[in-house]
Amino acid sequence: MKLIHLTDPHLVPPGATLCGFDPAQRLRETIKRINRDHADAELCVVTGDLTDDGDLASYVLLREVLRDLRVPARLLLGNHDSRENFMRAFPEEPRDANGFIQSAQDGTAGRLIFLDTLVEGFGHGALDRGRLQWLLARLAEKQNTPAYLFAHHPLQPIGLPHFEPWNMQNWQELMPAISGAGNIRHIFHGHVHVDVGGTWSGIPFSGSRGVAHQIIPHFARRDADFVEDAPAFDVALIDDDAVLVHRFEVSDRNVVEVSPAGRFPRGNQ
Ligand SMILES: [Fe+2]
Repeated sequence: MKLIHLTDPHLVPPGATLCGFDPAQRLRETIKRINRDHADAELCVVTGDLTDDGDLASYVLLREVLRDLRVPARLLLGNHDSRENFMRAFPEEPRDANGFIQSAQDGTAGRLIFLDTLVEGFGHGALDRGRLQWLLARLAEKQNTPAYLFAHHPLQPIGLPHFEPWNMQNWQELMPAISGAGNIRHIFHGHVHVDVGGTWSGIPFSGSRGVAHQIIPHFARRDADFVEDAPAFDVALIDDDAVLVHRFEVSDRNVVEVSPAGRFPRGNQ
């Protein structure tokens, strides 16, 4: 199974800019690259902060930009989003019985579970108000099937001091509960605007720096610099033996000459 993980496009209304750049243009360039190289993917999951301010005009623009994407998309919400305006622009997107933008889909590699971690009006995330119980039920009903979780906020601690106020509020309840289910194979998340990956209690996770602005974290200063780096997205190749996450930068780097045999001199690659 081939999946695209794309995150944090932070769209603003047509004609507006964010930090001096046009996030919709960065998303268009990213989509062009996905269409060119990865149109065979089964699904493209966009893990939230779809817009910067949650306004309807930005969601309408997102809908227009996504029309060009040749891979089916699943959209999640982040702390910059508005559930109400999202649902006005994307009324067909699945949601749970409580109105949260949560759903599960059975793909060729297992169960894909899409989470809504948005707490309206705040930067931190949570799976409260029935959302954690919904997740545990989705894990339990297919407990012998590998599950892949997608969320805007990292569900696990992330080790970035800058993000401590905006982490998952109930991770200490959440993580032991879901790791106890025993079938989570990977967590894909956004939110942090920097490339990160690792494991928490044996559960692997990955987050990409995303499409809009990025950060350079400073551990000693406990804050971060915001920068405009190249947009990036991840491609996950999943089979029975492995979950391989490749990160692709959307840039126009020069292709360098190599030897006629296609190798660098002395085999130094
Ligand atoms: Fe973001």
